[in-house]
This record gives sequence, structure tokens and C-alpha cells, in this order.
Amino acid sequence: MNGIFISFEGPDGSGKSTQIALLKEYLENKGYDCLVTREPGGTKISEQVREILLDPANKAMGYMTEALLYASARAQLMHEVILPALEAGRAVICDRFVDSSAVYQGIARGLGVDEIYKLNAYATEGVLPQLTIHLDLPASVGIARKKDQKDLDRMEQEASSFHEKVAQGYRDLAKLAPDRIKTVDATLPIRDIHSRIVELVETVF
Ligand code: TMP
Repeated sequence: MNGIFISFEGPDGSGKSTQIALLKEYLENKGYDCLVTREPGGTKISEQVREILLDPANKAMGYMTEALLYASARAQLMHEVILPALEAGRAVICDRFVDSSAVYQGIARGLGVDEIYKLNAYATEGVLPQLTIHLDLPASVGIARKKDQKDLDRMEQEASSFHEKVAQGYRDLAKLAPDRIKTVDATLPIRDIHSRIVELVETVF
């Protein structure tokens, strides 16, 4: 595969969208053909699965169902968008990828990190990003940013203990894959975070 695959990870409210927009602009200014997508979502079918996953009315959803739905949205995104873009040599930036499942379902829901990676290897055809940017911030800061929004989704409505497990889960996961997952302090000013991300991205080109 010729393209470059970068994912962004972090707790809810960690500022991924802002940083992804800045990185896209940076890469395009350097002449790269950039594709930005997101998880769960990014295709018609995956966006439909996203609706099911994030609908606050779906309180009865079991953890295994949740893990499988995230994986199914991912399988469709891989098949329809990410793999063709990488084969065409494009730079793909994905807002969340398999590490979100490792942390939210594997750690915070307690399904197990290895089990979640195994399940997802099927969905991703074993493809992982060359670089994963982990935006680290205290769970309380992320939740406070989200609380300003009026409609919280099913995941955002989880207890603060869940969000604490997510924030810590990312730190632990980053230690397991230090060559791929790079942690950036998301409490810094936006421009400083962007500069740090650019330094990291330059190492994969
Ligand atoms: P977003 O708000 O960043 O678009 O992500 C949607 C929510 O879904 C967010 O709370 C994180 C969660 N999520 C998982 O629990 N597992 C996953 O595999 C993914 C991709 C997201």
C-alpha cells in the first residue's frame, strides 16, 4: 500500500476535530492528497450504524453488541474508503480507529484489549495506522467541554468513572505500542498542539 494512514485518538472533548482540520490544511499545503474520515461513520452504511450506536434510547445495548457494531462500521469504512484511498497513494486521516475500540470496549467496558484487537483484525484486514496521535487530557476537562453541548450521545452520557477509565486506558494503551501511538498534551494551546503533531507526522513521510 502506497498511502499514509494516520489516526487521532483521545477521550471525548479532547479536540481531535480541530487538530485534524489543522493537519489536513498543513498536508494539503505541502501538496498531499488528503482524505479525512471518521469513526464510527464515513460511509452511508457506517453512518447508519453510528446512529444506532450513539442513540441515547438504545440503553439496552449489550457490550458485545456494541463492540461488534463498532467493528462492522469499521469493516465497511475500510472496504469502501480507507483501503482504496491508501491503494491510490492518498494521505488518510481518521478521527478514531481500532484503538477507540481497544480503550472504550476493551478497557472501559472490560471486554479485554487482546480480544478487541483480535475481533477487529477481521474488520480491518490487519491494517493499522502508521501513526496514531493520542490527545491526552484529564477526563474531567473533556467532559466539561462536552457538557456545554445540549444533546449528549449514548457514550457521552456514561458516568464520569467510565470517562476516567477511557482517559487512563489511552495512557496505558500508548505504553503498549510506543512506536505507533504518540501522546500529545491536549491541555496546551491549539497552535502548540498542532506544532507537536506536525513534528510527529514528519517522521512518517
Ligand atoms: P466521536 O464522538 O469522537 O465521533 O465518537 C463517537 C463515540 O463512540 C465516542 O464516545 C467514542 C465511541 N467509540 C467507541 O466506543 N468505540 C469505537 O470503536 C469508536 C470508533 C468510538
